[in-house]
Amino acid sequence: MTFPPPIFFFLLLATWFFSASHVFCADTVTEDKTPTLESIARNCMACHGGRGISRSPLISSLVNIDKERFIALLQGYRDGTTPATVMNRLMQGFSDDDIRALADYFQAIDPEVSPHK
Ligand code: HEC
Repeated sequence: MTFPPPIFFFLLLATWFFSASHVFCADTVTEDKTPTLESIARNCMACHGGRGISRSPLISSLVNIDKERFIALLQGYRDGTTPATVMNRLMQGFSDDDIRALADYFQAIDPEVSPHK
């Protein structure tokens, strides 16, 4: 057997390759996970329908609610003054500014343009 055995070079190369690629990954995987208004609103749509337009009679649309009523409802859920099953839990941690931004977001959607064909 010659020394060093060929496996030694292989291991050296492998170690170099994996440690180097690790450094690459650390660079490319750091993506911004900060929620945006858009990403928060998409979570609402999971229940309330695409673009806030509900397909089910069991859950309300978010596009045709008066803005002040929308804000009051969400603040009520958050503060525990509006009885609810789900929304009271969801609204924990939402500030008045967050709620107003969501109200504006859904107000800006044209209820006539349905996402459901
Ligand atoms: C897990 C499902 C779910 C998600 C996600 C969800 N909602 Fe709701 N929403 C409900 C349910 C259920 C109700 C009825 C009240 C209750 O029981 O919680 C409701 C009620 C509401 C109402 C009152 C409608 C009315 O006319 O009384 C508003 C406004 C509302 N949600 C806004 C939102 C917003 C804004 C978001 C996103 C931040 C959101 N919801 C996310 C399930 C959901």
